Formats: sequence, structure tokens, C-alpha cells
Amino acid sequence: MTDKIPQDRVLIFDTTLRDGEQSPGATMTHDEKLEIAAMLDDMGVDIIEAGFPIASEGDFAAVSQIAKNAVDSRICGLARANFADIDRCWEAIKHAGKNRIHTFIGTSPLHRAIPNLSMDEMANKIHDTVSHARNLCEDVQWSPMDATRTEWDYLCRVIEIAIKAGATTINIPDTVGYTAPEESANLIRRLIETVPGADEVIFATHCHNDLGMATANALAAVAGGARQIECTINGLGERAGNTALEEVVMAMKTRHDIMPWTTGIDTTKIMAISRRVSTVSGFLVQPNKAIVGKNAFAHESGIHQDGMLKNRENFEIMRPEDIGLAGTSLPLGKHSGRAALRDKLEHLGFELGDNQLKDVFVRFKDLADRKKEVMDDDLIALMRVSGGDEGDALKLVSMKVICGTGGQAEATVEMEIDGKDISATAFGDGPVDATFKAIRDLHPNEARLQLYQVHAVTEGMDAQATVSVRVEEDGNVATGQSADTDTVVASARAYINALNRLLVRRAKMGEGADTREISYRDLT
Ligand code: KIV
Ligand code: ZN
Repeated sequence: MTDKIPQDRVLIFDTTLRDGEQSPGATMTHDEKLEIAAMLDDMGVDIIEAGFPIASEGDFAAVSQIAKNAVDSRICGLARANFADIDRCWEAIKHAGKNRIHTFIGTSPLHRAIPNLSMDEMANKIHDTVSHARNLCEDVQWSPMDATRTEWDYLCRVIEIAIKAGATTINIPDTVGYTAPEESANLIRRLIETVPGADEVIFATHCHNDLGMATANALAAVAGGARQIECTINGLGERAGNTALEEVVMAMKTRHDIMPWTTGIDTTKIMAISRRVSTVSGFLVQPNKAIVGKNAFAHESGIHQDGMLKNRENFEIMRPEDIGLAGTSLPLGKHSGRAALRDKLEHLGFELGDNQLKDVFVRFKDLADRKKEVMDDDLIALMRVSGGDEGDALKLVSMKVICGTGGQAEATVEMEIDGKDISATAFGDGPVDATFKAIRDLHPNEARLQLYQVHAVTEGMDAQATVSVRVEEDGNVATGQSADTDTVVASARAYINALNRLLVRRAKMGEGADTREISYRDLT
């Protein structure tokens, strides 16, 4: 059973690896999931929702391994309202010292229509599935999906049933981001006042950001009595995303005077995990994103700089150090050594093993040869992109592009594919189009380019460009990123990176085990 917690303590339930990863294109590899889970555990997240074990062999393997690796966090898995899902979830999470089964069903009129159950049939199903989960695990969370659009009387009735059947946490999802702060607070307050047994369980809030109110709604729910916030790093999640962990945690810390609740989060770890999640999910953080955006602590206008120099509190309500952002420091250059690079990367929140450092150092030297000053943002971009893995089937060896005004561009690309060097020349509508066509000639595929995005990392003629690419083939989505002072080279690498990831996914499907098409929204 969930331990009794002090009245002012709010549990942080992170669902980056489940609701976040569910967002189209944000798919992470097995190792990336383990790495993010370890970072969440280390930063003090109370409960990690590690995945949806029945969705695929891959999800099951990741949740099981996360459960085995867990140090302090409670490891939770998601299960629909049926015994097979719940059993599979338990198999995956049972290895953790502290575990939780999270089972749910859509209770609003619209969601009830999907499995075509009457109110009574659904109530019975809730009783049976929660009891079953509780027989397996002493910590059970139950969610009435789309709670904020469920009839009040029915919501009270099913919550009471779930509590009686043994649920220890009742989560109130605002599945479609429909509620508003006052309503969110009132809903939780009234439920706690009305439902028999409500004071025996913890109420949780799970908000989506469709109307841009996920953070406000979550904090309002806490004011109404919720003591668990469900959230994701960078607000990652389907559609407009989920409540952002960094926002609710920093709001409670910064405005403790009006939001007098505490969490167990070490906020100095926020920046590092935000960057890592952005890298592995391929979802770049918007520059003006609260707390973790590139500009969140930048004060560029003259009047702001003057004010900052006189007293930083004029324009800064939080200290950059509090989220793990080191103060500005000197750029590196081509004479900087390995120790300086390691030191700088540690300041930026990246901790590297010796082998990783060796690989990054080679890429750093290559960049420093082409760019006079390597700024913090260049290093972050360098860390964000993979230099390619030894095991990659597709590798870029060299490329040459000829383009000019008024004609077609010509790209000759040489690649190593499964150990063999081959090259192709293709023509296209611009250098990137020609390059991608040459890559497709070398590695024929049906993958559809869903997204192609270029960002300048720093300013100036020698600035690096970060390129993100998302491809889709037969419902499998993969992202790739790369950075280079040459935008076309970065584009080629990002595209090849995405194709490599797609190959890995396809190989897993070929093993016949992956049933990825099962979504937690499939209720029947
Ligand atoms: O948004 C939602 O309703 C969910 C549930 C599974 C809790 O993610
Ligand atoms: Zn959700």
C-alpha cells in the first residue's frame, strides 16, 4: 500500500516513458528507456510509469528491466481493464522493490460507447479488474479515463467501487485537456468530500495540455486535495502533451508562499534530463518553453541586461543553478583538451563514461577545426546527435553536392551498407532532395518523410545546423538527428540515423514478437 505521506508532500508520478513515448514519433530505444528511467530515479521521481507491458515484447522487456534496475522509485506499468493486461503488467513490474499496477477504463459517455458496456456492466468490470490487480500487487492505481467529461454521479459511483476493490491511488485524468483550473480544483475537492473511503486513498491529477492549461490544472488539483501529479519531462505527450514535470516542480518551489507543497525532486537535475529526453525523443524544446527553453534564462534586451547587472532578481525569479544550468563560461576551441571538454560537459549536465568521451572528443575536434569558438550550445547539439553506432547497418562515408541557381542539384553519396562501400548519384529539387534521393537509391525503402526540421545552433556564418528527420513506414515511426556546420551533411546524417532506427524496429517486428499496434486507447 502507498506509504502515508505528510500532508504537504506531493508525489511526482512521471509518465514520460508511457504517455510521453506514446506520442507519435517520440519512440525511444530499449537502452534509451533504461537511461531515462535511471535519470528519473536519480532525480527523486516517486513513481515511474515505465510503459504498457502488453503493448509489445519491447515494452515488456523495457518495463521488466527498469523494474530490476530501480533504486528508489516505485515502478508502475499500465494495463487496460482486463485480466490479460493486468497479469502481463504484473509479470513486468514484479521485479521492482516497489511496484504499482495502473489500470484504467474510459468512463465518460463517449468512452463507454467504445467497448459498448452499460453503466452496470462497466461498474462490474471495474470491481473485478481492480480486485484482480490488488490480489497481485499491494499498490494499485485506478483511472476513470476522461474523468473530466464523466457524469458526476457515475464518477462517484465507480471511484467508490474501485476503492472498495482495493485501489490505493485514484487518478483523475483530464484525457483531452478539457478542464480549467477552478473546475479542476473543485472536482478533486468534491470527490474527496463525497466518495466514501476517499480519505483512505491518494488522489492524483493527470492533465493534458490541449488548451495550454495542464500545469495550472494540475496545481489547482493539488489545491483541491490531490497529492500526486502525473507529468512528463518537457511536457512530452500525445497532441499538445502532458503537464510538464519541470513546470509544476519549479512552480511549487518558486511560489512556495502560495503553493505550500513539497516534492522529492532534486531540481538541479532538471536541465540534464530535459536535454536527454529531447535528444532521444527527437522532440526539440521550443526556445521560449518555461524553465527548460533555451531563452528561459536569457536576458538579451539592453534594458533587461542593465537591470540584471544591478540585481538579477529584477528579471529572474529562479536561479539558473537551481535547474542545473551552469552560469555562462568561456567557449572551447581547437586547443582545448579532453579534460576541459569533460569538465564543460559536466557543467552542462552531461556525465560521460570514458568510451563516450572518446567518441565525443573526436567529433568535438572535428567541429573545432571548422569553427573558431565552440559554444555551450554547439556542445549540447553535439551531445544531442549520435555520431552513429558501431552496429549501424547504414553509414555515411562521403558526399559531394553540386547545386546552383536555375537547375537541378546533383548529389553523389557514398555509404557503407552492411560492410560494403557503394555510391550513387541522384538529381533533385535542391541539395537536400538530391541527397535523400541518392540515399534512397543506395538503400531502397518506402519510408515516408514526415518531418524535416533545421535549426541554427548558434549565430554567425560558421554556425552549426541541427537537423531533425522523422520517417514512417507501415506504422513504424523513427526519428533521427544530426548537427554539422554544413546543413546538407547534417541532413544526410539525420536521415540515415532515422533509417537505421527504422531497420532496428523492423528487425524486432520480424522476430514476430512486437505487437506495437496495440494502443492503450484500444479498449475492446
Ligand atoms: O490521458 C489519459 O487518460 C491517460 C490514462 C491512461 C490515465 O493517459
Ligand atoms: Zn494521458
